[in-house]
Amino acid sequence: MAIVKKLIAANWKMNKTADEAVLFVEEFKKLVNNIKNAEIVICPPFTALQAVSNEIKGGNVDLGAQNMHFESAGAYTGEISPLMLKGIGCEYVILGHSERREIFNENDFLINKKVVAALSHSLKPILCIGENLEQRKNGKTEEALENQLKNCLKNITKNQISKINIAYEPVWAISRGNPNHKAATADDAESGHKFIRSMIAKMHGESAAKNTRIIYGGSMKPENAKELLAMPDIDGGLVGNASLDPKSFAEIVKSVRL
Ligand code: PGA
Repeated sequence: MAIVKKLIAANWKMNKTADEAVLFVEEFKKLVNNIKNAEIVICPPFTALQAVSNEIKGGNVDLGAQNMHFESAGAYTGEISPLMLKGIGCEYVILGHSERREIFNENDFLINKKVVAALSHSLKPILCIGENLEQRKNGKTEEALENQLKNCLKNITKNQISKINIAYEPVWAISRGNPNHKAATADDAESGHKFIRSMIAKMHGESAAKNTRIIYGGSMKPENAKELLAMPDIDGGLVGNASLDPKSFAEIVKSVRL
């Protein structure tokens, strides 16, 4: 059982212009302004980071990015550095999302470099791992999770591990924009989380494992958030499709019970 405050993060993916993001935040912050029992993060596209950063100043919502390069600066056309994210007010950064892995060929080796770089700039990584459908069907879920964890967390110390939020996102449960897509059952999600926590305990000890947040992602929505978030090893959610509407995302945030 973890002892950390739950984290609910919105992953907007490639959705919303800066103006649309402002409209969302204006409405959303009114709906959650008295929430204290959860940490709330919005990860808009890069082009809306500044607008969202301005809108959330002084409130209880934090800013995150969806990706970054591992170098601070240099000849990397089209990339964004950790320094730039810090400069714009980001506290969090999603790394290794399965869409980055599958569509943009990111591998564990690259993701590990990004995790190390994020920590060295005091950005809190939301590191995504998860098995795909084939691995699940072949009984290889734990093997896939173990490999991703070991590779992506290479050179991470016992003192650093709890600064990382691990998002368990079974690839087969991710909505890809379909609001009717099925999430993992609470029991299936819990067993993934339990396994991940046991791996962290093996790598860094029980206390580090207890203090590391493991959040669930994959079709979390107002209808299933309460049940998922009540599971003992689920410390929050990374929400895609259902975070695009302020009311729906606020409802998920309000599903957190301490
Ligand atoms: P989803 O996305 O909530 O739309 O399934 C989650 C994610 O991919 O992070």
